[in-house]
Amino acid sequence: MEKRTLGQTGIAVAPLCFGGNVFGWTVDEAASHRLLDAFVEAGFNFIDTADSYSTWAPGNRGGESETIIGTWLKSRRNRDQVVIATKVGSEMGPGRKGLRPAYIRQAVEDSLRRLQTDRIDLYQSHWDDPETPFEDTLGAYGDLIDQGKVRAIGASNLTAPRLREALDVSARTGLPRYETLQPRYNLYDRSGYEGELEAVCRDAGLGVITYYSLASGFLTGKYRSAADAGKSARGEGVVSRYLDERGRAILEALDEVAAQHRATPAQVAIAWLMARPGITAPIASATRPEQLADLAAAARLGLDAAAMARLDAASAWS
Ligand SMILES: NC(=O)c1ccc[n+]([C@@H]2O[C@H](COP(=O)([O-])OP(=O)(O)OC[C@H]3O[C@@H](n4cnc5c(N)ncnc54)[C@H](OP(=O)(O)O)[C@@H]3O)[C@@H](O)[C@H]2O)c1
Repeated sequence: MEKRTLGQTGIAVAPLCFGGNVFGWTVDEAASHRLLDAFVEAGFNFIDTADSYSTWAPGNRGGESETIIGTWLKSRRNRDQVVIATKVGSEMGPGRKGLRPAYIRQAVEDSLRRLQTDRIDLYQSHWDDPETPFEDTLGAYGDLIDQGKVRAIGASNLTAPRLREALDVSARTGLPRYETLQPRYNLYDRSGYEGELEAVCRDAGLGVITYYSLASGFLTGKYRSAADAGKSARGEGVVSRYLDERGRAILEALDEVAAQHRATPAQVAIAWLMARPGITAPIASATRPEQLADLAAAARLGLDAAAMARLDAASAWS
């Protein structure tokens, strides 16, 4: 399996990251463990989660995904073989959100306890916190790195100017810098990343790990009509967001390229991301073993220039 370095961290990851937001939401603990087993057996090593996953599921309080990953790490005794990324900052309850140093110090202990580990490989700021100066947040992360609790830090959902500002603060102060960015980016959602944000990442040599890489399942081609919303617990939202003229044109191009390469639309959508310059690893989740097998095959799928051009043209944005 090809490995890529996560920004300038020296951490080597396979080019597909398992997204852990489904653990404790659309997948229970036993099924999550089976998916994680299959993922590492296929040669992958990179898992992304967040302290707040999956607060939105009825009855959940947050921490469910980290807890499920923690019981898996403990029972498989494989902590050294996998790279664990998690996040802080999303609301976990009253007063429990943001990137203040005191809150980060408390939140990291909670994540370490749930993950049943002594270190987080990549600790990410989930959302921007304009009320906390970057110096304060990065200082807190610096202490965690010094203590060996965190190996590297990353950001998610930052705008280009704010990411540049954070990088400038690190350069000026000597505090650790964000080594990765986790943006929403896929064949349908291109405009928020391509352009200024992509330029900042490439100039600074950041690792980029994309989320919603399958547009929440839309790019697998399973949503072709409004009636298909019933195919998943999250189907209604997917259909209303993506099933429009542009979405249908993208599906048509995916079908065509998939047929030419004896692949599936999901594999083509992931392979397109893997081939984009500057992308380290798309993050995608799966709820069933057959979905995971489908996604895993994307790592072996090379798209030729004609296929990339067809996909680029169908998903062009202005
Ligand atoms: N930083 C952030 O703010 C942020 C925000 C959101 C997500 N994320 C990260 O990105 C990860 C992925 O997000 P996501 O799961 O929402 O989106 P996604 O990867 O775009 O969509 C994955 C979903 O598509 C369906 N699917 C996957 N493979 C399939 C296949 N081969 N055939 C048919 N259906 C398939 C599954 O859902 P069904 O079976 O239910 O259809 C699966 O849960 C998250 O786990 C998280 O780590 C980060």
